[in-house]
Amino acid sequence: MARLVQAVEDFTALDAACRRAAGLVARVTRRREVKNALSGTWLGHPLHPVLSDIPIGAWVMASLLDATTGAQGARAARLLVGAGLAAAVPTAAAGASDWSDTYGATQRVGLVHGVCNGTATALQAVSWVARRRGHHAKGAVLSGAGLGLTLSAAYLGGHLSFVRGVGVNHAAFQEETGTWTDVAAESDLVDEQPLRAVASGIPVVLVRHDGQVSVLSATCTHAGGPLDEGHLEADGCLRCPWHGSTFRLSDGKVLRGPASVAQPCWEVKVEAGRLRVRARTVA
Ligand code: FES
Repeated sequence: MARLVQAVEDFTALDAACRRAAGLVARVTRRREVKNALSGTWLGHPLHPVLSDIPIGAWVMASLLDATTGAQGARAARLLVGAGLAAAVPTAAAGASDWSDTYGATQRVGLVHGVCNGTATALQAVSWVARRRGHHAKGAVLSGAGLGLTLSAAYLGGHLSFVRGVGVNHAAFQEETGTWTDVAAESDLVDEQPLRAVASGIPVVLVRHDGQVSVLSATCTHAGGPLDEGHLEADGCLRCPWHGSTFRLSDGKVLRGPASVAQPCWEVKVEAGRLRVRARTVA
């Protein structure tokens, strides 16, 4: 299986299709409300993996009923296939939104993941129609085939998260330090211009906006983008240069996705003309 995934990662012929589809998704999700809803910004967690449990669970249970109860469980199995279909729509929308912010090998694997899931959903839809017309055996076979594809797609989804790091909080492994650390001279900080520094090995970004100095970790929680190269918005929020996630300087809260996890925030003080910082919360 690993060799198959590697082949997909290297299959650059998919790139043109990826570009076109990702561009289309980006247009549809351009509005802040849409992006935030689909990214899970409101949830504090990526939405797609939460939703994907529903169709997978429903379709597994439908096939289990098909295999163990036959015609007796036909009504319940049909209900489960239908529930999975209903949940597949928002699941796919959230997944497509996440996918549109990936690149290269990750995006190729994501495209195949999506095509497998789309085909699996179509098979379940045909199965539901067959069941509704009383063709239970035919519906069971179609659902079984769809479930096989869904599980293959789930393998690719796991690969995207656990191997390629999609949806992972990229600031999760920073060791927070409660010690005040000298990071820069106060005179190095220019008003309204993000300044990169390093505190105990962790990159941080310092910003003085309206006379107030704020410090966030510089590695974007979404996919690791450099916030110090980002844009300071008029409202005092910092926008990531990679996918446009916007973080409030005062507390790191995400105001615009695709990020769903707040940016780690640091305390700052000035001592003898030097800027000193420490993590705001220490585990
Ligand atoms: S890396 Fe994606 S928004 Fe920052």
